[in-house]
Amino acid sequence: MNRREAIKVAGLVAVVAAVGAEAKMATEHMNRIEMKPKNPAKMEKGELKHSPLITLKEKDAKGYTLVEISIGQGGIIHPSTQDHWIDFIELYSDGKLVGKSTLEPEISRGATAFALKLDGVKELKAKSGCNLHGIWTSTLAV
Ligand SMILES: [Fe+2]
Repeated sequence: MNRREAIKVAGLVAVVAAVGAEAKMATEHMNRIEMKPKNPAKMEKGELKHSPLITLKEKDAKGYTLVEISIGQGGIIHPSTQDHWIDFIELYSDGKLVGKSTLEPEISRGATAFALKLDGVKELKAKSGCNLHGIWTSTLAV
């Protein structure tokens, strides 16, 4: 093997290793278990930290209402570090997925907003995914 071939092989090995490491990280660090508070009327700190807070804001001139979703309730904000973060937030309107945000660790934390037409809508549901602690759901009657 000459030098040029050796460099090609080394590059290929590095690519395979990087893809393997990414797949390993995705399977080892992503908890996708659906979680529920033990007692929704009296949530514990860890449950408050993961539960989406849905807030309706103003309606715009086109009839869309701003729906803010922040992860954490009772003044508790979920952390965002390389090892522990909210990686997605989804919003459902009467059971239909109407928005999804994908979030990166450290640079962004668990918060997003969507603008929706809420005429006739009965319930909003937000889901948040914590890579360590699973998927948490909150609902809001409209
Ligand atoms: Fe968490």
